[in-house]
Amino acid sequence: MIRMKDINKGYMLGEEKLPILKNINFSVKEGEYVAILGPSGSGKTTLMNIIGCMDVMDSGEYFLDGMAIHSTPEEDLTEVRNQKIGFIFQNYQLIPTYNVMQNITMPLIMRGMHHKEAEEACMETIKLLGLDHRLEHRPSELSGGQKQRVSIARALVGKPSILLADEPTGALDQNSGKDVLKLFRELNEMGNTIVMITHDLNVAQSAKRIVRIVDGELYE
Ligand SMILES: Nc1ncnc2c1ncn2[C@@H]1O[C@H](COP(=O)(O)OP(=O)(O)O)[C@@H](O)[C@H]1O
Ligand SMILES: [Mg+2]
Repeated sequence: MIRMKDINKGYMLGEEKLPILKNINFSVKEGEYVAILGPSGSGKTTLMNIIGCMDVMDSGEYFLDGMAIHSTPEEDLTEVRNQKIGFIFQNYQLIPTYNVMQNITMPLIMRGMHHKEAEEACMETIKLLGLDHRLEHRPSELSGGQKQRVSIARALVGKPSILLADEPTGALDQNSGKDVLKLFRELNEMGNTIVMITHDLNVAQSAKRIVRIVDGELYE
């Protein structure tokens, strides 16, 4: 599903390039549930942005679903992201003026799907998540745990190749965080491939495999 070979990424600091990701080798098979564990500043979000095709690497090879991302033009990556990746963020990134249904159907509408079909897909997805009676609510009317479930529904609705979550429990109280991790395990048991990024060992231990990132280097 994911195969990364010798990925390097740095940022310019004045005249010099500051290395952030150093020779990363990382693979994920279909159906895996992997946590990337590392302290703040270790390069987790930088790596997630590359996995999610939101940022480009300086060197290395990245195959996603057999597609060579490293040689795909940047203007084609929007479609790759929309089709293949389901993003889940710490701060949910829901659209505040949209209701739950509109937030969830948005990635399908972006693909050009008709509203009726998108709403049917939304209803299918939402059954899993217990949000049936919240479809008309705006994000501001929901709890943190409910907002994260909406964002998980939005990530799932397009049947992506992988779910990519950056600190998905980071903004939640302990119980809502536990619920999200329980949901991730259920989604994984249903066959979803999940890559979760966290600085919290307890959260990482919920995954089936843990890799560590320290100062831009990845260790199994
Ligand atoms: N756009 C950027 N320009 C320069 N430095 C950056 C940029 N984004 C991140 N960094 C630096 O890269 C390092 C890793 O950042 P990040 O990937 O966000 O780490 P993490 O998510 O593990 O906390 C940090 O030292 C950060 O300051
Ligand atoms: Mg981060």
